[in-house]
Amino acid sequence: MSFFEKPFAIPATASLIIQLAVLVLLVFGYIIKRRLKFRNHGITMLSAVVLHAASVFAVMVPSFIAGFSTLESFDFSNSLVVLALFHVAAGAITFVLGVWLVGTWHFQTQLTSCFKKKLIMRATMIIWLVAVLLGTTLYTLFYLLS
Ligand code: HEM
Repeated sequence: MSFFEKPFAIPATASLIIQLAVLVLLVFGYIIKRRLKFRNHGITMLSAVVLHAASVFAVMVPSFIAGFSTLESFDFSNSLVVLALFHVAAGAITFVLGVWLVGTWHFQTQLTSCFKKKLIMRATMIIWLVAVLLGTTLYTLFYLLS
């Protein structure tokens, strides 16, 4: 079966490209935080959350529903299924935490509440990187190597 015969190849590729753009924003956001430009850090992370939300709702949720609705049960001996479930869980947690972090900021110039969320930001960033890594691995295994 060729790449283009696989269902969802085009939306999956679009989603991968968006996720890689999100990764660039996350790294950039972290670098500018280290340069103490906290407001620009917040705006960059807001952009990453919006892009992530767009790819989740436009591509990932529809393809997940279409792909898994045909299954009667999850085959946990299939590593692709297990990877996909971890990817979905990490992406969902990231989405909720990211929306909460940027949503509770309100573009305030007073950043005291942001400073208090440092540990949650760190956890969100790590889980987000894991989600992107798992998504890229899934794409490689499913669309490039099989
Ligand atoms: C999805 C959203 C966000 C992510 C993933 C994120 C990620 C991070 C990370 C990884 C750090 C470094 C933490 C560490 O050094 O251990 C950090 C620090 C920080 N972030 Fe965010 N951030 C987000 C949203 C925001 C928002 C909306 C603001 C508000 C302006 C903000 C303000 C800050 C500040 C002030 C720090 C420095 C905390 C300190 O060093 O005490 N962040 N963030």
